Amino acid sequence: MHSTLKSVLRTDLLKCLNQSVNQSHWWANIKMAPPDAILGVTDAFKKDTNPNKINLGVGAYRDDNGKPYVLDCVRKAEAFIASQNMDKEYTQITGVPDFCEASARLLFGNDSDIIKNKQYITAQSISGTGGLRNGFEFLRKFYPYQKLVYMPIPSWGNHNPIASDSTFEVKSYRYYKPATRGFDFEGCLEDISKIPERSVILLQACAHNPTGVDPNQDQWREISKIVKQRNLMPFIDLAYQGFASGDIDRDAFAVRLFAEEGHEFLVAQSYAKNMGLYGERVGALTIVAREQDDLQRISSQLKVVIRRLYSNPPRHGAHIASAVLNTPELRSLWLNEVKGMADRIITMRQTLVENLKKEGSLQNWQHITDQIGMFCFTGLNEQQVQRLMKEFSVYLTKDGRISIAGVSSKNNAYLAHAIHQVTK
Ligand SMILES: Cc1ncc(COP(=O)(O)O)c(C=O)c1O
Repeated sequence: MHSTLKSVLRTDLLKCLNQSVNQSHWWANIKMAPPDAILGVTDAFKKDTNPNKINLGVGAYRDDNGKPYVLDCVRKAEAFIASQNMDKEYTQITGVPDFCEASARLLFGNDSDIIKNKQYITAQSISGTGGLRNGFEFLRKFYPYQKLVYMPIPSWGNHNPIASDSTFEVKSYRYYKPATRGFDFEGCLEDISKIPERSVILLQACAHNPTGVDPNQDQWREISKIVKQRNLMPFIDLAYQGFASGDIDRDAFAVRLFAEEGHEFLVAQSYAKNMGLYGERVGALTIVAREQDDLQRISSQLKVVIRRLYSNPPRHGAHIASAVLNTPELRSLWLNEVKGMADRIITMRQTLVENLKKEGSLQNWQHITDQIGMFCFTGLNEQQVQRLMKEFSVYLTKDGRISIAGVSSKNNAYLAHAIHQVTK
């Protein structure tokens, strides 16, 4: 083609493109994201005018009157912080130091070799989600092997996208057994034993979300053994320490086992549930490394990762958690309150099973009491879930998961009645 003609055509094409950009707008090609499964449930709940309506979708603790609960130890810690007239300077990139130290001790226990030999680095994070995010970003940049992560089926809905956003290919291992509504121990071991060496494996330490199904201690020992044999890098999510059994040490069993067994691993910790600090966004990422030399380089690079994501974390929530963890009176008050929350949930599970029996249900509901933590995987199918919402104004996610935290002594019998009606 003649060069002048070519240049005229190019100019026309550019004009045309510019016009189309100016005439429309910059963001015209963005597609709508899928709605959040849980927020959708809450929206439908809010619109419902039935006075008996129950929202069992949200994973946030409620007291027996269905109200959000601020822990007394937290109120007292806030009063203490207010009395200190603290400045508002930036904290360190890795967060409030006393908070980080206390978080690591909470994870491993004071007697752990990891604590004694300082074989870890803990960085404050934007709650548990931020701990996972920072961890996967760190792995994206520095994990020297194939970016492959294995997760339980099912797992918390944010695990897969967080890892994918950090360029990990996500695969799965069997975990929940629908037939027993319990843990698929054999399936889990079989699948883990086939995971390619040097992959990352994501494990939930306790109160598994969404199933409420946890391995027992012997089963954890087997899992740890196979993870070691396969040479996998564990990334443990501990979002519910104390909230499952009411005992912070017992709920840390898996983490402490992996520590004792000599693994190097990562842990994301959250204070959303166990201190009720949901909106304060308090959590931590801990990376365990056995060589001091490695730790220094890890620490320096983790700071670079965080610096680029949000520079340094917010202080207030970390000061609250630090005051609770580091002040003996507040700590013992906290331990009582965590136990109180866990016990209320356990009682609601038992009462629900009793009420189902009173309703005349002949089904086996033992999984409701066998499962642990905030959630119960009821085994209700999608059709039954739809009926619960439409006919009884009981709202839950379509996988049949209910948040036991939303069940109270006041609505328990109504819930049992509704479940019986859709399952009989
Ligand atoms: C298993 C699991 N991990 C992590 C989180 C993150 O919670 P947050 O970011 O509020 O600490 C949650 C919250 O529901 C969870 O269930």
